[in-house]
Amino acid sequence: MPGDGFEIRDAALFDLPRIFAIYNREVEGGIATFDVEPRIAGVDDAWLTGRAPEHPVLVAVDPSGADAGVIGWASIGPWSPRGAYRRTGEVSVYVDAAARGRGVGSALLAALIERASGTEIKVLLARVALPNPASIALHESLGFRSFGTQRRCGEKLGQILDVELMDLHLDE
Ligand SMILES: CC(C)(COP(=O)(O)OP(=O)(O)OC[C@H]1O[C@@H](n2cnc3c(N)ncnc32)[C@H](O)[C@@H]1OP(=O)(O)O)[C@@H](O)C(=O)NCCC(=O)NCCS
Repeated sequence: MPGDGFEIRDAALFDLPRIFAIYNREVEGGIATFDVEPRIAGVDDAWLTGRAPEHPVLVAVDPSGADAGVIGWASIGPWSPRGAYRRTGEVSVYVDAAARGRGVGSALLAALIERASGTEIKVLLARVALPNPASIALHESLGFRSFGTQRRCGEKLGQILDVELMDLHLDE
């Protein structure tokens, strides 16, 4: 899918150093993810190689950019290992700080929604640690709606954190 100076494609193994670099900024210095251990290419490759077909990882690539051109990524992962939850997938979207605000996150999330259509995934779930106005706006702009707030469920960087629960129903 083409975007404004970037394109979106499936992630490949050689993208992992950039995918993990973008993610690890938030692991180590942000609240967007509750992961606290950085991911390492060559060690954590199963995160990409061990996925079911309905759980894609997409990358946004700017051919004119440095660092192999990967400026963002997005994925659908399983919400729960319990079988009856197979129809629900959890989305993740991470854009390099230098590439934010130019539609990369929107294009990645729109591509994920398109990819989920026609699979067994019928509900997309987003868990957004607060405050994160950019992520709330991004998900709302693609049709996600809040259905609750999980209060004080996380603690990171000295803050006790609430998580906004948002979902998009693809079969309604
Ligand atoms: C959240 C994130 C993915 C958004 O990506 P992005 O490429 O900057 O977003 P876009 O440029 O596509 O903008 C998407 C929407 O959010 C809005 N938005 C973007 N940044 C915003 C901000 N700081 N405050 C409020 N709204 C914002 C845009 O106006 C746009 O809304 P619109 O479609 O109604 O105009 C990006 O900020 C990011 O990677 N943040 C750190 C990781 C993170 O929080 N991931 C989500 C975890 S739940």
